[in-house]
Amino acid sequence: MKRYENAFTEVVARAAGRDEAQIRSLLKIPEAQRGDLSLPCFPFAKEMKKSPAAIAADLQVAVGDHPLFEKIEAVGPYLNAFIEPEGLMSTLIPEIREAQDRFATSDVGKGKEVVIDFSSPNIAKPLGFHHLRSTMIGNALGRIHRALGYRVQGINFLGDWGKTFGLLAEAFVRFGDRSALDEGGISYLLELYIKANAAAQEDESFDEAARLMFKNQEAGEPRAMDLWRLFRGISLAEFQKVYDRLDVSFEFFEGESHYRDVLDEVVARVESTCGTREDQGALVVDMEYAKDEPPMMLRKSDGTTLYATRDIAAAMDRWERFRFAKSLYVVGVEQKRHFNQLKRALGAMGQEWEERMTHVYFGRVAGMSTRKGNVVFLTEVLDEATDRARAKMRQDDGDRGIDIEKVAQQVGIGGVVFFDLKNLRTSDYSFDWEEILNTKGFTGICVQYAHARCCSILSKGGGAPSAGETDLGLLRASEEIALVKELGRIPGAVEAAAADLEPSRLARAVYDVAREWNRYQQSGNADRSLRILVEDESVKKARLALVDAVRIGLETGLKLLGVSAPQAM
Ligand code: ARG
Repeated sequence: MKRYENAFTEVVARAAGRDEAQIRSLLKIPEAQRGDLSLPCFPFAKEMKKSPAAIAADLQVAVGDHPLFEKIEAVGPYLNAFIEPEGLMSTLIPEIREAQDRFATSDVGKGKEVVIDFSSPNIAKPLGFHHLRSTMIGNALGRIHRALGYRVQGINFLGDWGKTFGLLAEAFVRFGDRSALDEGGISYLLELYIKANAAAQEDESFDEAARLMFKNQEAGEPRAMDLWRLFRGISLAEFQKVYDRLDVSFEFFEGESHYRDVLDEVVARVESTCGTREDQGALVVDMEYAKDEPPMMLRKSDGTTLYATRDIAAAMDRWERFRFAKSLYVVGVEQKRHFNQLKRALGAMGQEWEERMTHVYFGRVAGMSTRKGNVVFLTEVLDEATDRARAKMRQDDGDRGIDIEKVAQQVGIGGVVFFDLKNLRTSDYSFDWEEILNTKGFTGICVQYAHARCCSILSKGGGAPSAGETDLGLLRASEEIALVKELGRIPGAVEAAAADLEPSRLARAVYDVAREWNRYQQSGNADRSLRILVEDESVKKARLALVDAVRIGLETGLKLLGVSAPQAM
């Protein structure tokens, strides 16, 4: 589609005597019957003292014909362009098939670094369902940026430092049981954590001891550190199991503790730049605050540091190491103020690159409750997703020789992930199993199913034909043209997803392809001449080439979203 956008932009800019950048920024994709590209002429009306419709009509004459377009015509205030389908088919399909898994990649990000801080759970607690959002949005953004040639540094900024771990260590010393810990792992830690919190509430001396324990950890005292290391190791092993199931990886596991030795330096740096001041015994960043805004704390009255202190340290370290073009923090909306203050503090310290940092926040998920109303563990959701997908497959069909276990994982987990990514990340959504596993809606399964259909038709049809043996001019059905147009939109959607930090742009584009694919299939059911595996060998070959391109488009899109694309299901 890029080619068409460029060509249209170029001729219009020339005809209008304007900047290509201006024209490009105004282009829209109209409803199908109004063509494929549209230029609204309102923005020119005032300075030209002409009606938008008159401007569009004049432009039509000035532009004339173009070989890539069937027609370029003014309709009211719009100048609409209709892509010439034969050219589209004969260029796009071979391009996609040649590119294979490099389809929708580019090098616009070449030489640029993107840091993505994502997932970043707190240790000593199992991953909760709410960690899915940060993990999968961050993962998709990483894959999408890599496809565009950026160098991506995925960082898991574990919450592995702070008074909580003093509390936990103190609780373990007092009433912990090593063999129960070895046995229970992270669930034991969670129990211990709940006990420790209760004890700290009841007993001030316990709270005081926990504070001391964390002070000892900050001072590097070996016994206190050993316990911390033990808890961290258990937690990481547990997290890794979930990341493996989700096929998510990180360049670095660098938690808050990573910065424990530089925090004094960081505080000194704040002091010597924008300054610090005391506020109710605590040390805070001296910068402008809104009325009633709690100040950004660097040290508590007992001298221990805080989350904010460590985030300043991490941001500066990441800048030193990566000189990033973008530094993204995929963290829930609850931390809006924290990231706003982080950027402001860095700005006040004279670190202009803070402008490259973005808090990529996301909305909440409703409808996830447990029997006890507690947080739902992510593993439980992934298990249930797999169970449900397995049950559905068993019910759909008997023995087709597919690896039910593997596919159930791919479909169940993929369904949950796609559902998480399909809406604007900033909006809240309601979790709903029925919808997630609906094969007909805007769902991962619908897209996966379309992909699997493509694979099975290709294998029934004797495989993808070689480029030389296909005459793509034979693809003339409106369903075929509509399908290829949607396919052509995937690369633009990948770019838009990166620019807007919005994986849903890609999820939508991938679904649009699946939807057109389904229409094509339905028309084949209604009209035998539109079937893919028809008698006529050359029509069949051309259609198989199209199916192959669709397969590639769907697979690419799903993978960039972090969703598997099973070949059969
Ligand atoms: N550990 C934090 C939490 O669970 C999230 C950390 C996000 N990343 C960061 N650089 N602050 O709330």
